[in-house]
Amino acid sequence: MMNRRHILSLPMLLAAPALAQERVVNVYSSRHYDSDRDLWEMFSRGSGIRVRVIEAQVDQLLERIRAEGANSPADVLVTVDIGRLARAKELNLLQPFASPQLASRIPAHLRDPDNQWFGFTMRARVVMFDKAQGLPAVLARYEDLSKPEFRGQVLTRSSGNIYSIGWTASMLAANGAEATEAWARGIAANLARPPAGGDTDQIRAMGAGQGRLAVSNTYYLGLLHRSARAEDRALAERVGVLFPNQADRGTHVNVSGAGIIRNAPNREAAQAFLEYLSGPQAQAIFAEGNMEYPVVADAAVHPFLRGLGDFRQDPVSASTLSAAMPEALRLMQRAGWR
Ligand SMILES: [Fe+2]
Repeated sequence: MMNRRHILSLPMLLAAPALAQERVVNVYSSRHYDSDRDLWEMFSRGSGIRVRVIEAQVDQLLERIRAEGANSPADVLVTVDIGRLARAKELNLLQPFASPQLASRIPAHLRDPDNQWFGFTMRARVVMFDKAQGLPAVLARYEDLSKPEFRGQVLTRSSGNIYSIGWTASMLAANGAEATEAWARGIAANLARPPAGGDTDQIRAMGAGQGRLAVSNTYYLGLLHRSARAEDRALAERVGVLFPNQADRGTHVNVSGAGIIRNAPNREAAQAFLEYLSGPQAQAIFAEGNMEYPVVADAAVHPFLRGLGDFRQDPVSASTLSAAMPEALRLMQRAGWR
């Protein structure tokens, strides 16, 4: 094996310019959708750049990029949530890409202010309810979920979950520490059950009558809507959606996003790949893979999501949100939100 390696290494070095012309982009992705694979193929056909994908959980990808260091073949990281993208930036794994195209097409609150990552699809954190029961009249804002009239009615994930952390960070940015801790105490007091499972589990529990209000990202309802299981589709039919805070700052949103790895060996290919993802056709496919919203204005929105209606987004910056996350977690835990 050793010899073989030696024999291979020298010709590979000599052939480096030829190899560089082969044009590849190595994508480390924590998304696992067939539609993503179709999209990478479309990119390859149009650009001549081959996409090599490694799919794994985000923590594994980050650890791998870190361990590979300067020798990492990784060009692009694709993952979910501002918190995780910010973590990759914090670990110094990403490099800035000042692209006029991305800057003009992606709204400022959905990308890193230092251009180290960009949101390519968006999800909103909403309150879901049973249409048959209707929406309680006193509920219009996230703040209302902590009111005493909702004792035992709120279904949401645990405080340690990154969606809870991002959501509470948005509350913290809007209302400050004292009000947000009081709010978190109210949420803890209003829980229908100890937090368990993911967003879909909250929707199912609401459907089963365990609580009146389920906090969830929009795409989970979209995924139930297009599920192969008839009972999932029937559940999705019954669910109404409240986009909170429409009369003030707007509903909390988050992204799936991507950035270029600091030591990317194929930097130009990586740049072309990111810019491609902001095109209207790519946006529609990338978003539909997980029933999310495109981030650009000229891309088609899935009819199910269109049916939920337009909504105002909380424009708080990604840097403000990610900076507030550690305090958001501490505050939820102090408040007894498990
Ligand atoms: Fe999710």
